[in-house]
Amino acid sequence: MTQDELKHAVAVSAIDYVIGGEIIGVGTGSTANFFIDELGKIKHLIKGAVASSEATAARLKSHGIEVLDLNQVTSIPVYVDGADEITPQGAMIKGGGGALTREKIIASAAKRFICIADESKLVNTLGAYPLPVEVIPMAHAVVARKLATFGGQPKLRLKDGQPFVTDNGNFILDISGMKIVNPAEIEQTINNITGVVTVGLFAQQGASVCLLGTAKGTRMLDFTP
Ligand code: A5P
Repeated sequence: MTQDELKHAVAVSAIDYVIGGEIIGVGTGSTANFFIDELGKIKHLIKGAVASSEATAARLKSHGIEVLDLNQVTSIPVYVDGADEITPQGAMIKGGGGALTREKIIASAAKRFICIADESKLVNTLGAYPLPVEVIPMAHAVVARKLATFGGQPKLRLKDGQPFVTDNGNFILDISGMKIVNPAEIEQTINNITGVVTVGLFAQQGASVCLLGTAKGTRMLDFTP
């Protein structure tokens, strides 16, 4: 099976977690896109969706799914999103697509985080994938110098030769070469740096369930305590 076929398979499996008559939180990225396309087929069953990026909002709307502002919503039972890396304990690196802050906000508002990923995303230790950090533009150099003291190499994310700008108007630093053995601690430390908006580590609050696409079918990892 190709990587896209595995992503599609887990997106189909995630539909079982959608709760009828409720609002669903929807993530960003290629795996989330497969999920949105499946959600379109059952849109009559849900009340609407909260989107983690402008791109996701546009795709949801293209399927005729109502997109609600998070401030209008009091309950999100389920949030479905991909990951760049996930450990067997449910800690994740996210933000490869640059939507980490809105993703973390919706994930924190949701009761359950259903992570959908192909098996290449499962790792024992996070950090082979560069760790994204969203920063206030005026602080990117000072934050990069502080991040460099943690042993990795932070690099300003560029798009067409210019700084990549998030949906929130901020920049992203991607830290490569960092072996993250204690993700919850690193998450807290980086989030405490003045100028950092959000680090793309989801460890203090990780996934509730991971649906992992493998050649043998979807494997379910349940992290519910
Ligand atoms: C978006 O900002 C990311 O957090 C994505 O959820 C993550 O990068 C996974 O993306 P893919 O599904 O495209 O691999």
